[in-house]
Amino acid sequence: MNMSKESNRIIIFDTTMRDGEQSPGASMNLSEKLRIAELLEELGVDVMEAGFPIASDGDFEAVNEIAKVIENVVVCGLARASRGDIERCAEAVKPARRARIHTFISTSPLHMKYKLQMEPDDVHAAVIDSVSHARKFTDDVEWSCEDASRSEHDFLCRCVESAIDAGATTINVPDTVGYALPFEFGALIEMLFNRVPNIDKAVISVHCHDDLGLAVANSLIAIGAGARQVECTINGLGERAGNAALEELVMAVKTRQDSMPFSTGIKTENIIKTSRLVSTVTGFTVQPNKAIVGANAFAHEAGIHQDGILKHAGTYEIMTPESVGLVESKLVLGKHSGRHAFKVKLKELGYDLGDNAIAEAFKRFKNLADLKKDLFDEDLIALVDDTVVRVNNRIRLISLEVLCGTKHQPPTAAVELEIDGEIKSCDANGDGPVDAIFNGIVKLLPHEAKLMLYQVHAVTHGTDAQAEVTVRLEENGKTVNGQGADTDTMVASARAYLNALNKLLVKRENSAPAALSARAAG
Ligand code: KIV
Ligand code: ZN
Repeated sequence: MNMSKESNRIIIFDTTMRDGEQSPGASMNLSEKLRIAELLEELGVDVMEAGFPIASDGDFEAVNEIAKVIENVVVCGLARASRGDIERCAEAVKPARRARIHTFISTSPLHMKYKLQMEPDDVHAAVIDSVSHARKFTDDVEWSCEDASRSEHDFLCRCVESAIDAGATTINVPDTVGYALPFEFGALIEMLFNRVPNIDKAVISVHCHDDLGLAVANSLIAIGAGARQVECTINGLGERAGNAALEELVMAVKTRQDSMPFSTGIKTENIIKTSRLVSTVTGFTVQPNKAIVGANAFAHEAGIHQDGILKHAGTYEIMTPESVGLVESKLVLGKHSGRHAFKVKLKELGYDLGDNAIAEAFKRFKNLADLKKDLFDEDLIALVDDTVVRVNNRIRLISLEVLCGTKHQPPTAAVELEIDGEIKSCDANGDGPVDAIFNGIVKLLPHEAKLMLYQVHAVTHGTDAQAEVTVRLEENGKTVNGQGADTDTMVASARAYLNALNKLLVKRENSAPAALSARAAG
């Protein structure tokens, strides 16, 4: 691939599983990361950053397993500018057909003085040492100057030039704190092209955060200035306000070919299903008015708009819903549908499941079909996500009975769980039915996690709609989001709480003290 400034091909570097996972609460376990990696490959990203191997054994294992199975995408791991980090990262990405080590260090006065407590000359020496060390393991090395947009230009140019001389093949310029304005960020990239003598020996990449809502705008202007790699995440997930959203960047380029004559390898019809999986796995619901992937992104409410759309879609639609993989919601199978039709339908919705998963999901589908007259695509998606996509392997709901209403005060819940293979049950009271259920769960599995968010949304319209509940728990500064779906809102609530607890257990196991300080990257 010609990746120079003259090429019009943009490399899409996805960091959903690294920077995206750094969103508070957005933890992903190994099997979830493997599913996301497969979909990213299908989507056509060029590089996937699968994790930060030194951060925890879980991160290492995820990068390593992804490196073993992904065939057509560069698999990348992140490492600080230390030999230990780089060696751990090299080991994790080793099985990949195309492996990249991404090493970084801060170059801004603020970060060097307070975070690193290092002199600029020592930072410069670390750049050379880290890049040369990484090159011993792979010839695909990316170097990032963290907090580049607040760095002094002379020092930045000196570090970039030395990183390229030391063997970096990609130079990534992050707007780590989402501080830059588009005209400044474009000028920064132009300045590097004008002042760094060996700049043509590397691909220039950008990595923008969305603290001021400018991540996509900054990435686009950087492309105009010569950047040929953009780092982004599905649904704009990422540290704090998130990273540039992949779907927004790609669709902006595709839709505005008149002023952005560039191409990407993204098969845009796969955007919606990838977005959905990331949302399900992380428990981060996509806001309805989110560009490209929000539920309202292609909905027209005002009469005058609907009238225009009927006369000519182009009046109010700048891209088609089909181009991002949005197919009209259809009435789907009913209670007499067989397993084969069910399997075909799931395939159509983008799920490629094994026989055991199909059998489990089919059982729940039959129960749902008995309860709900009209079944829509959204019902199947919620059901399958709840049955087989979310991993609840330590704690499972066996049964739940709730008594509430004006004649049952206080509300009570009889909760039966399977915890690590052992069945346990109890009765509990609460201020309301949800409180009673959650108190019951705490009785059976005592823990200190605080409930930070409880949210219900109806999957479809109608009072027989399935409820999808999101629960956020926080324990010692770690947050997790859990989700659950059911036609019974109380059952969905219990499932969501248990999903969050299952994730918390994984997070507890995965976070050694070293992991927390390794999370210094933005
Ligand atoms: O935001 C940032 O600076 C980062 C780097 C590690 C690339 O995430
Ligand atoms: Zn970042």
